[in-house]
Order: sequence, then C-alpha cells, then structure tokens
Amino acid sequence: MVQSGAFTSETQSLLAHRVSVRKYRDQEVSAEMVEAILDAAFRAPTSSNIQAYSVVVVRDTSRLQALSTTTGNQKHVQNAPVFLAFCADITRIESALARHGKSVKNNNLELGLVATIDAALVGMSTSLVAQSFGLAGVMIGAVRNNPLEVARILALPDQVYCVFGMCLGWPDESPRQKPRMAPSAMVHYEQYGHSATADEAAQQVADYDRHLHAHYTAVNKPTTAASWTDEMAKKFSPQPRANLRLALKELGFDFL
Ligand SMILES: Cc1cc2nc3c(=O)[nH]c(=O)nc-3n(C[C@H](O)[C@H](O)[C@H](O)COP(=O)(O)O)c2cc1C
Repeated sequence: MVQSGAFTSETQSLLAHRVSVRKYRDQEVSAEMVEAILDAAFRAPTSSNIQAYSVVVVRDTSRLQALSTTTGNQKHVQNAPVFLAFCADITRIESALARHGKSVKNNNLELGLVATIDAALVGMSTSLVAQSFGLAGVMIGAVRNNPLEVARILALPDQVYCVFGMCLGWPDESPRQKPRMAPSAMVHYEQYGHSATADEAAQQVADYDRHLHAHYTAVNKPTTAASWTDEMAKKFSPQPRANLRLALKELGFDFL
C-alpha cells in the first residue's frame, strides 16, 4: 500500500502545518495583501455560481473592540491587525429575482445552507492563501453568539448574516498543533462504517480522548481525562445558541 507520506506538495505542506494562531506582531497587513488574498479566495467553488457571500474587512480599533466584546471578550479579536467577517449574503440573489418580479424573502433551509457553505469555502480558501503569504490567524464562530449585534456593528443589511469571522496577522506565537482523530475514524470506504465496527469506532474516540488530554497537559491547559468527550458534552448539552434560528430569521434567513 502506498503511504500518504509519499505525496507532498506546497499546499499539502501548508495544511499539514496549519494551526490556529491567536497572537500577532504589531505589524500591518497591507490592504493590497488582503485584496490579493481575497481575489484568490473568491475562486473557491460556489453552489450554482450563486456567489452568495460578502466579506467585511475590519481594522478600526473601536469596531474591533465591539466585535471582541460580543464574541466573549476574545483578546485576539481586539488585537488582530485585520478581521474579516465572512457573511452569507443573498441580497444579490434578491436583486436578480426582483428583475423577474420575484423574491427570496420567504426563503428556506436550502438557500441559507448554500449561502453559508459558500461563505465557509471562501473563508477556508482565504485562510490558506493568507498562510501561504506567512500570515496566520483563527476563525471566530463566536460572532453567532449575538448575530444581531454583529449585524449592527458591521451595518449588515437585511439578507446578510455573519457566518464566522477571521483574525489575521503576522504570527507572534507558534502553538503546538492540536491532534486530530485518527483518519481511520473519519474515512469510510464505499459505505459508512465498513472500515470500523461500532466497538472500534468507540475505541477511536477513547484513544483521541487520551491524545487530546496529553496535548492539553503538554501545553499547560486544564483538561480532564476524557478530554474531547467531556468538551463536547459541555458544549452541546444544553444546546448552544438556542436563539440562533430566530436571530437569523430576523436577518432574513429562514432555515426552516
Ligand atoms: C468555524 C470556526 C469557528 C471558530 N471559532 C473560534 C472562536 O470563536 N474563538 C477561537 O479562539 N477559536 C475559534 N475557532 C478555532 C478552533 O477552536 C480551532 O480550529 C480548533 O480548536 C482546532 O485547533 P487548530 O485550528 O489549532 O487545529 C473556530 C474554528 C472554526 C473552524
């Protein structure tokens, strides 16, 4: 069997070394560089060519402060030289339909999903291009703590919501990579579950609990013995962001 290590490329290496970075040097990221990054990122595929995303580039310190506050006082949001807000944006689709006397005002789950997927693909592409220029950063899903407040801060119109943000800057830390679950836990051949029995799958999660525990211990972060399992239970029970659907509806996305 060919080992995956036999296949390398610049892009493979960028991803293999990727890590979230939350400390940045006090050094500008030029407007030209951000423009070049986004130009490339906008080549990401987009469902049926709908291009249902927009990106808001934020540098103003008081605006960063407001974003930091609403995302749970995350210091890196305040200190990032540049923050990109990746938004699902169906306003241009609305305009297109208006020409035909139609509207997506009463949209459904599909439109919200494809716009969200579009924004995510552009976001990940942005992250990769930025990394290829030596920048680093972290995505910020906490913009969905209070989508209405984020919409107010960024003056988002109806039919636009911020899916996630991204802090970008020149790295001032080299965090140890967080381990991932074994690929064998995540890859299935031909049919789901063909490669591992339920017992093996449970074992893979238990193994990952141990690996993540060892990682957090090595970087002096508090954790428990069943590190990942405990984190997930804490995060998803009770349900997080229970008001999200209502907030997104107010911003013009039905998700029903
Ligand atoms: C959509 C998304 C939202 C995220 N939101 C936050 C966030 O609000 N704050 C933060 O510090 N990290 C955030 N992260 C970073 C994750 O915590 C991080 O990717 C994960 O723990 C794995 O670590 P790594 O990126 O260093 O491999 C987010 C990542 C993604 C993909």
